[in-house]
Amino acid sequence: MRSAKDFFAPLAVGAPAPVREVPARPSRMIHFFDPSNPKMAAKVPDMVGTVDVLLGNLEDAVKAENKEAARQGLVDIARATDLGEHTQLWTRVNALDSPWALDDLTTLVTEIGDRLDVVMVPKVQGPEDIHYVDRLLAQLEAKAGVQRPILVHAILETARGVANVEAIAGASPRMQGISLGPADLAADRRMKTTRVGGGHPGYLVRQDPVDGDVEGARAVFQQDLWHYTIARMVDACAMHGVFPYYGPFGDIKDVVACEDQFRNAFLLGCVGTWTLHPVQIAIAKKVFSPSAEDVAHARRVKEAMGDGTGAVMLDGKMEDDASLKQCLVILELADRLSA
Ligand code: GLV
Ligand code: MG
Repeated sequence: MRSAKDFFAPLAVGAPAPVREVPARPSRMIHFFDPSNPKMAAKVPDMVGTVDVLLGNLEDAVKAENKEAARQGLVDIARATDLGEHTQLWTRVNALDSPWALDDLTTLVTEIGDRLDVVMVPKVQGPEDIHYVDRLLAQLEAKAGVQRPILVHAILETARGVANVEAIAGASPRMQGISLGPADLAADRRMKTTRVGGGHPGYLVRQDPVDGDVEGARAVFQQDLWHYTIARMVDACAMHGVFPYYGPFGDIKDVVACEDQFRNAFLLGCVGTWTLHPVQIAIAKKVFSPSAEDVAHARRVKEAMGDGTGAVMLDGKMEDDASLKQCLVILELADRLSA
């Protein structure tokens, strides 16, 4: 696994730029806003400190005629807003095969490169897309004198991207993480859904019949459409030391299903999610922070395991090195979030 020391130093003339740590800073919610929408933009200052990441979205959901206004709006917001210690600034640029991506990257790195933490790249197909962005960022950073490398985040939203996810995760030391993009991925895979994330009432498993069952009495269980992709993405990210995320959950009113989807992703290994509406912020914060009970249990296991070897019984359950390691993941996350 790469270490933070491997971090790419931008094409620098003279002294190399300082190496930046992989940001283990919290990113439980990546809150999307449209910088071309004055109402949304006006709310940005109030969100500083309450969300881990503010993301100025330039891609889908921004009308073609507003692309330039969104880009300029993000520049203005980044210049005018003090993001403090606890909120990062990310952007989602337009797709690399669109007419806007090059101008997005050129303008943003030149104008606000020192304020931008992460560039989210949509519709990534393979490592070549990350190599392209990596080299372009290096040139633009060197030209603009940006003092720290801007990191890269890929959205997994094409079938080809999923097939290449391991190579994408390891494509550059700039890689910060990967998000599931369920809406575009569903379309690209030709799934027969019409939603942005979440489950589907038709995707279910019916219990086998038993003798004497009356028709319709058998239990049905709705299944998770995204389990395979999230699990695969998590493995690729773990292998390369980058962070996996759920993506958008579009049914804003269904806060219960939203929480369930976020929790499934958290339990499978994701560190955060996108939030598209303020109502999803508190849900993400709750779900992607370990509960007080989980932290207390993890502490008990750690204590009971002493030097960390062998096995002990706790409340009738066996604990050993492997369950201790899981507990240490929870404790490390809790420590990081309380720092
Ligand atoms: C996100 O961009 C998605 O397509 O789900
Ligand atoms: Mg998309």
